[in-house]
Amino acid sequence: MTCARRCRAAWTVAALTILIGLSPGASAQAPATAAPPSAGAPARAAALTDAAMEAFLLNATIGSHRSVGAGVTNTVVATLTDGTLTHDAQIQTVDISKTSFEAGKASEFNFKDSYRYNIAGYRLSRMLGMDNVPVSVQRQVDGRPAAVTWWLDDVQMTERERLKNPSLGPTPALTAQQIQVMQVFDELIQNKDRNQGNILWGRDWKLWLIDHTRAFRLGKKLIKPGELKRCDRVLLQRLRALTPAALDQEMKGMLTKGEMEALLARRDNLVKLFDERIAKIGEVNVLFDR
Ligand SMILES: Nc1ncnc2c1ncn2[C@@H]1O[C@H](COP(=O)(O)OP(=O)(O)O)[C@@H](O)[C@H]1O
Ligand SMILES: [Mg+2]
Repeated sequence: MTCARRCRAAWTVAALTILIGLSPGASAQAPATAAPPSAGAPARAAALTDAAMEAFLLNATIGSHRSVGAGVTNTVVATLTDGTLTHDAQIQTVDISKTSFEAGKASEFNFKDSYRYNIAGYRLSRMLGMDNVPVSVQRQVDGRPAAVTWWLDDVQMTERERLKNPSLGPTPALTAQQIQVMQVFDELIQNKDRNQGNILWGRDWKLWLIDHTRAFRLGKKLIKPGELKRCDRVLLQRLRALTPAALDQEMKGMLTKGEMEALLARRDNLVKLFDERIAKIGEVNVLFDR
């Protein structure tokens, strides 16, 4: 099917979904913190496949840019159109490498902040069966390499906002499970910047993980192993099955050899940690299915 036909079909399904009232949990909530997107209905976006979003982000014409008053690096958003679909994308061009970085308590050696890690985070999430990292592709923008990332336009609040009233959320169990998936992912990628503004809740209470530009460090040990209590069953299976060859194929140009080796060492530590917990307290108390 062509992209145009696929998009039209997807839109029809999405429109019907809204008409018959199946749209998930769209109750009135606090507004999203970031600037609203200029175009593109959330339901349409939700119906597109990853491949369709990747093709759009790679090929659509990039229109006007504007900056968003959230985050720390003055994020740039652009409106893209391919003649059929119009949607926003984040344009991230940061690519910094420093032997040491001073930021109060968060000073770091071998500091890196790179757009490449947004793309690596997206690709890795899909290898692990996760669908909650927005689609991100590499593309030249104004003569510079950038991560062009699908803008999530059905965000209702950040985790920072939700924690002001922690009774908000899906069920407590579903909130906890989504946080637990995030914790495992962040240990795997050794993310140094999972601040609460990088955790976005969709209107359907899906938890989205964004901004991985300060991840994929070289440390091989887990940072907070004591916080890892439970794991999604599929995620653990996928972690176990991750091979150097598959990682190398997916991450070419995005991660260095050293970054991949460190990731695989942390993977080994994660699998060991959960296997030991299962042996100690039983699978039913460690793994969950979603
Ligand atoms: N793909 C996206 N969809 C929706 N909002 C986004 C997206 N990317 C970034 N944002 C918003 O922009 C803010 C800043 O972007 P972020 O990637 O976190 O950069 P930084 O924190 O380095 O400035 C985020 O906190 C979020 O509110
Ligand atoms: Mg951020």
